[in-house]
Formats: sequence, structure tokens, C-alpha cells
Amino acid sequence: MINQNISLKDYNTFGIEASAKHFARFSSIKQLAELFLDKRFQEPKLIIGGGSNLLLTKNFNGLVLKNEIIGKEIVLENDYEIILKVGAGEIWHNFVLFCVESNYGGIENMSLIPGSVGAAPMQNIGAYGVELKSVFVSLEAFHIETGKVHSFDKEKCKFGYRDSIFKNSHKDQYIITSVTFRLTKKPTFNTSYGAINQELERMGVTELSVKSISDAVINIRRTKLPDPAKIGNSGSFFKNPVLTNKVFANIKQNHPEIASYPNGENHTKVAAGWLIEQAGWKGKTIGNYGVHKNQALVLVNYGGATGSEIYELSQKIIDSVKANFGVELQREVNII
Ligand code: EPU
Repeated sequence: MINQNISLKDYNTFGIEASAKHFARFSSIKQLAELFLDKRFQEPKLIIGGGSNLLLTKNFNGLVLKNEIIGKEIVLENDYEIILKVGAGEIWHNFVLFCVESNYGGIENMSLIPGSVGAAPMQNIGAYGVELKSVFVSLEAFHIETGKVHSFDKEKCKFGYRDSIFKNSHKDQYIITSVTFRLTKKPTFNTSYGAINQELERMGVTELSVKSISDAVINIRRTKLPDPAKIGNSGSFFKNPVLTNKVFANIKQNHPEIASYPNGENHTKVAAGWLIEQAGWKGKTIGNYGVHKNQALVLVNYGGATGSEIYELSQKIIDSVKANFGVELQREVNII
């Protein structure tokens, strides 16, 4: 069923009030194909999953399609691993919890990331030392132009830091319909990220498990990141910039305490949250929106802010970080 003039407030985690001229849900590839072929709706289309990486700066004058393809299918299982094909419309964290309960290892460090399974490979989501690509086998995607379903293996997806082919040469050409993951029944744990060890210690955990790591990550995220159900936000608004070692060395000379991580041999990744905080933005509130008080990388809508207000704030932050450090921040969220 196609609805008209629908509010998108409940479909974006920023909680921005904007409307869609038309709105429909699909729970199968067949339904999706029908919507694309429908002669009455030959207009721009916007596909949303969890709406957690989206800033709506205006009403959408076309058809918004909500991906509700769900289900989990075992592709292969043995004593060591399980390969699962998961519907793109499943909620990411619910899938993480399912794996944690079943003691399947691999995605516990990515607990509580908002959004859907289908959105995860788009930007190769990651947290606490683990990225989606480490458990990814393949995905299926609907090719908008031909209506055919294509399969993409890991190599074809060209994963990078918060990046994939679907944000570059294949942008707006495909709709991801399912993702296939390889999870392990003999997990090795990634606690390389300092905060996880500290939290495990605080929790009194002596034996690591998929569940204890997931719990630790959930605790850390709850203290640092705002819950979108309470305060509108879309997680990290910017990417952590990757600088050449030369540019980084120049900045470090003046700011020896800068938060950074090596990135290959010739590059260094810098914490955008640190740059934004140093530029004086952390916790800044302008009316009903602002910069989160515990993590400067996150912009927040306290209720009633418009997408363009938040976009303008992000531009001010970009300009200010550029003026202070000579580094140009890139937005991580999709701006509509
Ligand atoms: N920092 C500051 N001030 C801040 C925030 C951070 O100085 O306001 C410093 C911290 O002190 C720390 C460093 O920056 O030394 C890193 O901070 P944090 O551990 O919070 O991680 P991040 O690099 O800011 C990234 C991801 C997050 C992910 C965390 C944990 C990006 C853009 N963001 O943030 O992902 O949860 O690491 O792995 O890569 C998301 O993508 O939505 C997201 C939340």
C-alpha cells in the first residue's frame, strides 16, 4: 500500500520532522520490484532501513521505501562456524543479540549500533576494533535499473573505513536485500580497544565470552553515546580523518596530546571528536540542538530542530576545525 504525505519523524533516528510525498513498505524482493515498476510512481525514491545514518534537510518529494525484508537462514553449519543469510530489514542490534545468545562470535564488539542489517555493509560499520567486513561473506542487492538481483562478495564490495562500493561508483544504484555472515563457534576475542578491558575489569569479568564482551560494549556505548530513543542523533556525524604522516606530524608538533591511531604505513587516523572538542564545540547547545556533551562527534536534536539547522551547525564545525587545525572533516551521515 502506498500512503501519501507521511511524516518521516519516526523513521529517522535524528527525529527530524520532514514528510514524504509517498511512502511504502516492502518485505520481499517481489514487492520491491512491483513498486519500482509502478507507472504511477516514476519519481525519486529514497530507501530507508533503520534511518540511523540520515539527516533530512527537506521534505522528500518522491517515494520513500522502507525495507522490511526479515528472516535468518542457515547456509552452512558445522562444529566451528555458522554461515547465516539475514534479511536486510532486520534490526542490527537484534541480530547481534541473537548471535550473543547463541554464542556465535564475531559481531559482539558491534553491539548496540543503531540501524538495520542491510545498512551495515553500505558503510562497513565498525566499533571497538572490529569492522563488519571481518564477518562478511556476501550480499544480495536489487539493481534498480534492471530489476535484477546481483550478488556481491567481499572483494566486490570494496570495503574501506566507513566505506564501500555502494557509497562510491554504485551509489544509488542498488538496494541491499540480504547479507550473509560467517560467525564462529570457537570465538577469539578482540579487546584491543582499551575501554573494553577497563569495562570488563569494572564488571569483574574473569572469563571472556561473547556475552561479556557484548555487555561491556553496551555499557560503554550507553555512557558515551546518546540513546536515539531519548535524544535524536545519528551516531558519529563525521568520519575520523585519515591524514598523511607528514600533515599529522605538523599538527602533533603544536598539539602533542592529539588522539590518533596509525593507519597503514603512511597515514594516521585522527579522532574527529578530539579535534571538535579542542575547537570548543563539545556540549555546545544552540536552542534545541547541539553537540553531545560526552562525545563531540555526535550532533543531537533535543526535539524540534530542523535538518537544515543541524546541517548548518555541522558546516560551522567543519569550518572551525579547518581554521584551527587545517583538517577538513567529512560528514559520515547521508544528507537528503
Ligand atoms: N575524544 C575526545 N573528545 C570527544 C570524543 C573523543 O577527545 O568528544 C577522543 C577520546 O578521548 C579518544 C578518541 O577521541 O581518545 C576516540 O574516541 P572514541 O573511543 O569515542 O571513538 P571515536 O574514534 O570518536 C569511533 C567510531 C564510533 C565507534 C567508536 C568506538 C567513527 C567515525 N566513529 O569513534 O562509531 O563507536 O569509534 O569504536 O569512526 C558511529 O559510527 O556512529 C560510531 C558511534
